[in-house]
Amino acid sequence: MLKKIGVITRDCAGVNAALRALVRTAASHGLEVAGILKGYDGLIDGNLVVLDRRSVSGIINLGGTILKSARSERFFTESGQQQALNTIREQKLDGLVVIGGNGSLSGAHLLATKYGIRVMGIPATIDNDVNGVDFCLGADTAVNVALDALDKIRDTATSLERIFVIEVMGRDCGYLAMKVALAGGCEDVLLPEHDFSLEEICREIEEGNARGKVSWIVIVAEGRASAREVAATITGLTGLETRIAVLGHIQRGGRPTAFDRILAAKLGNAAVEYLIAGETDKCVSLKNDRIELVPLETAIRPKKLKFESEYRLLKLLS
Ligand code: F6P
Repeated sequence: MLKKIGVITRDCAGVNAALRALVRTAASHGLEVAGILKGYDGLIDGNLVVLDRRSVSGIINLGGTILKSARSERFFTESGQQQALNTIREQKLDGLVVIGGNGSLSGAHLLATKYGIRVMGIPATIDNDVNGVDFCLGADTAVNVALDALDKIRDTATSLERIFVIEVMGRDCGYLAMKVALAGGCEDVLLPEHDFSLEEICREIEEGNARGKVSWIVIVAEGRASAREVAATITGLTGLETRIAVLGHIQRGGRPTAFDRILAAKLGNAAVEYLIAGETDKCVSLKNDRIELVPLETAIRPKKLKFESEYRLLKLLS
């Protein structure tokens, strides 16, 4: 029977809401929860705090993670792993919940397969690139945050009849870029998953302007190109003035949307229930409004998304 579990987090919107759900579900089973501070570094250094029902009050609406986070180089060394194991033994952790993206879930998979630690993942990344998982925590909020910024930029684009190139995050995945572009009514989007021709885009701009079109917004996924280079090329080919905006980390922060909070409640709850039921080396995922388990071995493989039909729709409507 499980008595105490640990939880490690990365940062994005919805992580605190998931912590709240996880801690309160655990409490309802009389299960203790230890919050591991600063990601895997905290596991190595034995940096843990007690999380009880009250300690997760008032955090459902907070962005980031109250446990803080870090990219740990040490955890990928043998000595770092041994120190992490010592903490797990000393603190008598019977299992771990890991909330994060591919890097965090890879760490969880390693602990399960190499050391037999019982682990359960909760996919959380604005990139939405966890394989086999439709919705990662934080992605919906990131789309909405980027969309809000884009709407504001559109005011200037329209008023001054300008071309804007906006770069969004997402690492090697075009999910965030595609959704923002479609929701924002953008003229084009450059994705890691698709080929594109800047010459063709420039031709469209010139033809559109000749028809009386006055402003253009092109979204660039960071994994495909840089806004600066794309804008410079457009100016070079058309002679038209361009402006850029690199949205950066504002997309990772902020208050979680209702969608992310509800997802967090369901995933946080399910992660604990499945750990108690004896599951390990998997992550929880929402599919057709039901919780499914995805093996971590599958989850950490590169995700191949296709955006052809959404891209066609964007072009038709722009
Ligand atoms: O994986 C989430 C993400 O925000 C990516 O979209 C981005 O490329 C990366 O992390 C930025 O990493 P860091 O915060 O370490 O600069």
